[in-house]
Amino acid sequence: MEPGSDSFTLTTRWSTAADAEGLAVVHAGAWRYAYAGVIPEPGLTRMIGRRGPGWWRRLHDGRARALVAVFGGDIVGYALFGRCRSGPGGEIQELYVRPECHGNGFGSRLFAAARAELDSRGAVPLTVWCLAGNLVGLDFYRALGGRETGRAREHVAGAVLEKLRFTWT
Ligand SMILES: CC(C)(COP(=O)(O)OP(=O)(O)OC[C@H]1O[C@@H](n2cnc3c(N)ncnc32)[C@H](O)[C@@H]1OP(=O)(O)O)[C@@H](O)C(=O)NCCC(=O)NCCS
Repeated sequence: MEPGSDSFTLTTRWSTAADAEGLAVVHAGAWRYAYAGVIPEPGLTRMIGRRGPGWWRRLHDGRARALVAVFGGDIVGYALFGRCRSGPGGEIQELYVRPECHGNGFGSRLFAAARAELDSRGAVPLTVWCLAGNLVGLDFYRALGGRETGRAREHVAGAVLEKLRFTWT
């Protein structure tokens, strides 16, 4: 297949249980990339281990689904989103791109697709929480126009970590 054909265009679609392996690969790679040195070991490895293909199959059993980004036939990223857990509107809970695919606009495309879906449900404003130690994540959400509207602390793997809230209205 030549570059430029459909297979080499980024597309987004809803996930199914058959995507469990691909989703677990994206999650593991992106978590290591974002949280090594932020979430202490061995907690980070344990948390990644819990989110293997079985976790993703169970998610689909519960009829939840992710928005996946597909490029060249592979899942290169995903977003999980829904109602905001800490206020009105919607929330993107997870948005991850495979590290080897960073810097190609895939994260922005996924964000825009997730936001459009939440907008269509009337789930406004949009909230995203990002760990303060995830500097790339902070730059990404700032670049996409997120306003910093709060801070909180969260217990993660035995550590107390600061996180920032971004809002889009
Ligand atoms: C954050 C993440 C989703 C960005 O995905 P991506 O596909 O690389 O992002 P894009 O190529 O769409 O970049 C969009 C903008 O974000 C900013 N950005 C992205 N990566 C950046 C980096 N490493 N350093 C600084 N700014 C960055 C830039 O402004 C970029 O625009 P530009 O390319 O025109 O300069 C990806 O790095 C990732 O999965 N990280 C690990 C998980 C994570 O942090 N998720 C978000 C927090 S929950």
